[in-house]
Amino acid sequence: MDITFLLNGETVALRDAHPTTTVLDWLRESRGLKGTKEGCNEGDCGACTVMTRTPDGPWQAQNACILLLPHLHGREVRTVEGVAAPDGTLHPVQAAMVAHHGSQCGFCTPGFITSMAAAHANGATDYNDKLAGNLCRCTGYAPIVRAAEAAAQEPVPPHLTSPSSLSAQPQPEIPESANALAEWYAAHPEATLIAGATDVGLWVTKKLADLGEVAFLHRVTDLNFVDVTETEIRIGATTPIAALREAIAPHHPSLAELFRRYGSEQVRQAATLGGNIANGSPIGDSPPALIAIGATLHLRHGDTRRSLPLEDFFIDYGKQDRAPGEFVEAVSIPRQPDTLRCYKLSKRFDQDISAVCGCFNITVENGTVTQARIAFGGMAGIPKRAAATEAALTGNPWTEATIEAAATALASDYQPLSDMRASAAYRMEAAQNMLRRYFHESQGTATSVLEVQP
Ligand SMILES: Cc1cc2nc3c(=O)[nH]c(=O)nc-3n(C[C@H](O)[C@H](O)[C@H](O)COP(=O)(O)OP(=O)(O)OC[C@H]3O[C@@H](n4cnc5c(N)ncnc54)[C@H](O)[C@@H]3O)c2cc1C
Ligand code: FES
Ligand code: FES
Repeated sequence: MDITFLLNGETVALRDAHPTTTVLDWLRESRGLKGTKEGCNEGDCGACTVMTRTPDGPWQAQNACILLLPHLHGREVRTVEGVAAPDGTLHPVQAAMVAHHGSQCGFCTPGFITSMAAAHANGATDYNDKLAGNLCRCTGYAPIVRAAEAAAQEPVPPHLTSPSSLSAQPQPEIPESANALAEWYAAHPEATLIAGATDVGLWVTKKLADLGEVAFLHRVTDLNFVDVTETEIRIGATTPIAALREAIAPHHPSLAELFRRYGSEQVRQAATLGGNIANGSPIGDSPPALIAIGATLHLRHGDTRRSLPLEDFFIDYGKQDRAPGEFVEAVSIPRQPDTLRCYKLSKRFDQDISAVCGCFNITVENGTVTQARIAFGGMAGIPKRAAATEAALTGNPWTEATIEAAATALASDYQPLSDMRASAAYRMEAAQNMLRRYFHESQGTATSVLEVQP
């Protein structure tokens, strides 16, 4: 593939680049830019963080280890070597790291600097959140956060604010519209689609997989949208989780909180809703929440479109209702009063995959349950509705006795697995307790998850 981008202010034009070369490997091995470190090589530690942006977009922190070279086409990238001004003046976050003794070792510090510089450029204040994807192995977070807060008082340096004048030619495998994607994919139905590569990147770095023919979705900007009308919220497939989190917050704050705990800033900037659904993972966070609020999935093959309830897309472990050449175009959610609560249980609070993710959307009128939609991740081979639990609730009084009967019914909805994240028994008990928690929160007899600050 021919790829054009700006690297630390200079235009780079690569001819016949291998599409699954990671940005990290290319920076270190082809450009000798060794400031970007390899820690985990799977998006978990942030040592490889670089800053990227489109010509007219904000800076984003991204994990270079699972970012592939074609993702840079048409973008500007800054590594830690390009954070200081061209005359060598330190960036405010670099100067503050020195002043606050924030740099403990040379391994994690470059990734902290690039994450901090991206957050600084965007006027961020929530540094615990913005730096949750950067692991400091010596646990020196306090001076790092103090440095970030001090630097926030300083202006963004001109070399990071000036607009870039990059022009990148369209490429068939990097389509720029849903129509172009539909046409290309219908003609290459066996190809692998790559959106944010927060799953696919690991097939490359951990499984050393040869992906064959690939197409990149990050420039399909007409599928990067959240449209809110009087009747529905419609979300395009290439919408990153970070953008979706902001857009959904006024409508379903508990879902926004679930997205806050989705990976890290770096992962949320890259990962798309379409990828989180299409991968069919039983522990993906968005499917149970979207199923609980009655989402419809919109698929497209060439010019043919079809829609189905999201829960029907997940047939069995590793098996989804998607034909070769067909792709996820959008998801729509009916507008409704917000009764959704999502509970994510993971070993670590931040930057961890769910052991159990329970999502509850229950309507109570005059003390009686009139509607219940409940879905879990991590309890079966697919994200799955709790049909017996819903039946045990619907039509019954909203009381502790009903909740206990529903918790008993929940045991017949799922046969969870034991794995490294949790045992089957723990998963079942946790799921039942999530139902009890929803009840107590509705009664005001428990602290709402939305009020709990880490
Ligand atoms: C460090 C780390 C932390 C993570 N934390 C979480 C977490 O907390 N919660 C969670 O749910 N997930 C988490 N993930 C998993 C991952 O981020 C998600 O599954 C993500 O949403 C995938 O989206 P993507 O755009 O990166 O997809 P990709 O990796 O690009 O693609 C994933 C799959 O979907 C296919 N695909 C992508 N887009 C489409 C489309 N429009 N139509 C059809 N097929 C498509 C691809 O071909 C591939 O099979 C984490 C991953 C990492 C690396
Ligand atoms: S090397 Fe750890 S996130 Fe990239
Ligand atoms: S800064 Fe590297 S271990 Fe803490």
